[in-house]
Amino acid sequence: MNRGLRWCALTYSVMGIAWLAPTPILSQEQNARTEVQANAGSVPQDISGTWVAKMTTPMGQMEITYKLKVIDGKITGTQSLPFGDSPIVDGRVSGDTFRFVVELDSFGNIQKREVKGKIVGDTLELIPAMPGPPPGMGPGAEGPGGPPPGGPPSGGPGEGAPHFQIQTVVARRGTPTPSYRAPSVDYATLPHLALPALRSVPSVGVANTPPMGWNSWNKFQTKIDDATIREIADAMVSSGMQKAGYRYVIIDDGWQGSRDAKGVLSPNPQFPDMKALADYIHSKGLLLGIYSSPGPRTCGGFEGSYGHEEQDATTFAAWGMDYLKYDWCSASRIWKDGDMQAVYQRMGEALKQTGRPIVYALCQYGRAGVVQWGGQVGGSLWRTTSDINDHYASMEKIGFSQSDLAAFSGPGHWNDPDMLEVGNGGMSTNEYKAHFSLWAMIAAPLIAGNDIRSMSPEIAAILQNGEVVAIDQDALGAGGKRVSITGGIEIWQKPLASGDIAIAIFNHSTEEMRSVISWETLSIGKDYAVRDVWTHADHGSTAEAFSEPVSAHGVIVLRLHRIK
Ligand code: GLA
Repeated sequence: MNRGLRWCALTYSVMGIAWLAPTPILSQEQNARTEVQANAGSVPQDISGTWVAKMTTPMGQMEITYKLKVIDGKITGTQSLPFGDSPIVDGRVSGDTFRFVVELDSFGNIQKREVKGKIVGDTLELIPAMPGPPPGMGPGAEGPGGPPPGGPPSGGPGEGAPHFQIQTVVARRGTPTPSYRAPSVDYATLPHLALPALRSVPSVGVANTPPMGWNSWNKFQTKIDDATIREIADAMVSSGMQKAGYRYVIIDDGWQGSRDAKGVLSPNPQFPDMKALADYIHSKGLLLGIYSSPGPRTCGGFEGSYGHEEQDATTFAAWGMDYLKYDWCSASRIWKDGDMQAVYQRMGEALKQTGRPIVYALCQYGRAGVVQWGGQVGGSLWRTTSDINDHYASMEKIGFSQSDLAAFSGPGHWNDPDMLEVGNGGMSTNEYKAHFSLWAMIAAPLIAGNDIRSMSPEIAAILQNGEVVAIDQDALGAGGKRVSITGGIEIWQKPLASGDIAIAIFNHSTEEMRSVISWETLSIGKDYAVRDVWTHADHGSTAEAFSEPVSAHGVIVLRLHRIK
């Protein structure tokens, strides 16, 4: 079945947003047919110019801009969404109808999607093209770590997300709302950068345990500014996050302004003085992080580091940055996955060259076998999946696919199944506890993504549960693994530095289920004391079988300690 059409009936998530996609991916043959049909019409109208449309989504109003150039009826140009610009190719106007193909980027995959529309008076009526999931990330597909044996039972990313149909929109000639996003790039004429020969970049000795902090993306997307980041830093201290171990405050996409004549990148006016912001963050005993891309544009359409890698590393270090998230995004329009290691090495070397210890977070959605080479390019952590969103099914799909990757992470180099959604409102308290527990079992970076200025005591108690955080931060750095799955109950086990063992019992089903563990079947002796790290209560020993109800989508996490 055509992959694109199959997706029409399903939701998926791009940049944290769940869509119902009406625009199928086109095959080459379909592209050719589109061309021929469109040619068959009458005299082409000139729809050159800038057209702006608004679309209502559950997340608010989204602006879509089309910059079109029509020559002899052939359309080229750009489609701009809040998460980036996409070239328009192979378009045609024919009478009062038009069609064009948009080349969208979805987590490193270029997908061609067709837009069809009508010219109605002085408007264009069209169905915008939206990116779909990358191949292999659809429902039923395997996550990067392979499918969990026998589970989890539910479907694809975005399942359970707010469903909405991408509807016909009316575009009018106009000026898009001003933003600090960079102008679109002509990828065809972009000079091709030489890539370094592969070598191993020595570690700078950061991230001996999984980094803990906060990142702006999951809650604020690109709506960020200096004042918000300072308030978050204040809240890191006043809410107890810092005391619980969270140190990095990371500014994700949307801070960038433009480059000067010498190529030096400045922040946009929402961040009047990055150095002063870093000083403020450091004065609180916290660390500051920033975001860029090896492509010319970030995923949000802002200025990326392409061709300015060394210069940007120097700038980031001079500002006092302690962490760089480096997101593939538009690099997929220039390089192939096979080039990724060299591309990431280039920034790894540039960061090393600054002499500042900077955590280097690779964000390329687990592509190109990054677990094998992420450490060699100087990476302190690397994403292993596409983006999480704030729904149980998304968290479940991503988190439970990580078991087979455990061997690749350890002190200084961590698997990153994306940031936490705890407290963003799309999951129940039990689901957030499962999410947090699973990340701790994986030894994942714990990067909160909620508005910690206003979080409830219930959410703070999850993020700041010291006994769960200790499992994540354990000095051994071992990743946990699935050791059993029966019906909806899944058990993960993780060895800890002291000889203790962490056990997490997850319930995938939507009903409470009793979990009965015979310790023998997990090859665990009878001489461990059992402690429940969510209720903070001791629970007998492994001499007795463990039998307790686990709430729907919930978790029990136990720490086993050998009795002397
Ligand atoms: C990608 C990343 C996200 C976020 C956005 C910013 O989708 O995976 O974590 O950084 O880009 O545009």
